[in-house]
Amino acid sequence: MTAPSTSTARYVSRKASQFTESVIREMTREALKHGAVNLSQGFPDFAAPAEIKRAAMEAIDADVNQYAITWGARDFRLGVAEKTRWYLGLEIDPETEITVTCGSTEGMIAAMMATVDPGEEVVIFEPFYENYAPDAILSDARPRYVPLRAPDWSFDEAELRAAFNERTKAIILCNPNNPTGKVFTRAEMEYIAALCQEFDALCFTDEIYEHILYPRAGAEIAHISMAQLAGMRERTVVVNSMSKTYSVTGWRVGYCIAPPAITNAIRKVHDFLTVGAAAPLQAAGAMALRLPREYYDQLQADYTHRRDLLVPELERAGFKVFRPDGAYYVMTDISAFGFADDIAFTRHLIQQIGVACVPGSSFYSDPKLGAQQVRFCFCKKDETLMRAAERLHKLRA
Ligand SMILES: Cc1ncc(COP(=O)(O)O)c(C=O)c1O
Repeated sequence: MTAPSTSTARYVSRKASQFTESVIREMTREALKHGAVNLSQGFPDFAAPAEIKRAAMEAIDADVNQYAITWGARDFRLGVAEKTRWYLGLEIDPETEITVTCGSTEGMIAAMMATVDPGEEVVIFEPFYENYAPDAILSDARPRYVPLRAPDWSFDEAELRAAFNERTKAIILCNPNNPTGKVFTRAEMEYIAALCQEFDALCFTDEIYEHILYPRAGAEIAHISMAQLAGMRERTVVVNSMSKTYSVTGWRVGYCIAPPAITNAIRKVHDFLTVGAAAPLQAAGAMALRLPREYYDQLQADYTHRRDLLVPELERAGFKVFRPDGAYYVMTDISAFGFADDIAFTRHLIQQIGVACVPGSSFYSDPKLGAQQVRFCFCKKDETLMRAAERLHKLRA
C-alpha cells in the first residue's frame, strides 16, 4: 500500500505539535547508526542483578501473567513502604498512598494530570530532565523556568521566589539532579519547602537517583526527600522507579508516593492511561525492594568508580567538567572546542569521533542557554567508558 498523497499534518493536535521527540532517545538511535560508543541515554550496558532477573523469570513461570491490581501489586507496595521506612524514615500506607506506574515517566505525568488545572503554573528548575516540558504541555500546565547556575548549579532565592504566585500549582524538583549531578542542600530544600507552603503549592519530586550519591569531604551530600521536610509530606508527590536503582530501565516499573486524596486522583489517571505496570516485573520488584542495605552501598561504590574513570578522561580530552555529586551524568562545557553550538559539536562527536552524548540545549527552554554544553552518562562498563575515552582524545588532534 502506498502512503496517502495529501498531507495529514492537520490531524496533529496543538499539544502534540508543541514538542519534539526526545533528543536523548534520538541520540541513542544516532549512536547505533554511526557505531558510536553511546554515552547519551542513561541506561546501563552491564547486567542487572542476577537475583532480580531470576525473580522475574520465576514469576512468569508461576503464571503471574495477568493484570496486577491497577494501582500496584500489594507485595510491591508493601516493599515500597518497607524501604521508604528504613531509607527515608517515613511511614507510608501501602493501601492509600502508593501507586505503581509504568516507570517514573508515567508517575510524573499521571501526578501532573491528576492535580494541575489548565492555566496553572508549574515551576521547573533548568537545565531540566527533558520530559518535564512535554509533561507540562500534556497536563495543561504553564511552565515557569528558574535557572540553576554552574558551576555548583545553585539557584538565586529571589529569582525562585519571583516565579511563585497565586497561579502556582507545583514545583518539579529532580534530586539528585539530571542533568547537572547537583544534590540539593538542606538549606535549599527548606527554602523551596517554605515557598511551597506560603503559596500552597505541591512539590513533584523525582528521586529516581536517590541511591546514587558521591559523598565528599567538606560538602553535605546526602539524599533528602522533600517529603521528609516539616509541612511537606501532605503536599509532596515522590516519583520513583526501579529503573536506575536496580539497573532495569527496560522493565518500566515505577511508583508515586502521595497523600491519600492525591493518590486517589493519580490512581484514576493511571488506570485509564495504562491500567498497570507489568505484573511479573512487579513481583520481581517486590523482591528487589527488600535487598539488603549492602546492595545500595555497592551500587554507590560502583558508580563512584565509574564517575572517577570518566571525569578525568573528559578533562584530559579538553572538556570543562562540572563534577557531579549525584546521579550518573556529567555536564560539561565545550567552549574550548570552538564549535558554533552543541548540536554541531554532538554531530561531530558521533560521526567523526565515535562517541554519543546529549546536546545541552535539550535541557533548556531556550536552546541558546545550553549551546556550549553537552551531557555524558557513565552508567556503563569500564571497557565501554575506556573505549569512549580513547576516542575522545582524538578531539585534541
Ligand atoms: C530524572 C529522570 N526521571 C525519570 C527518568 C525516567 O525514568 P523511568 O525509567 O522510571 O521512567 C529518567 C531517565 O533517565 C530520569 O533521568
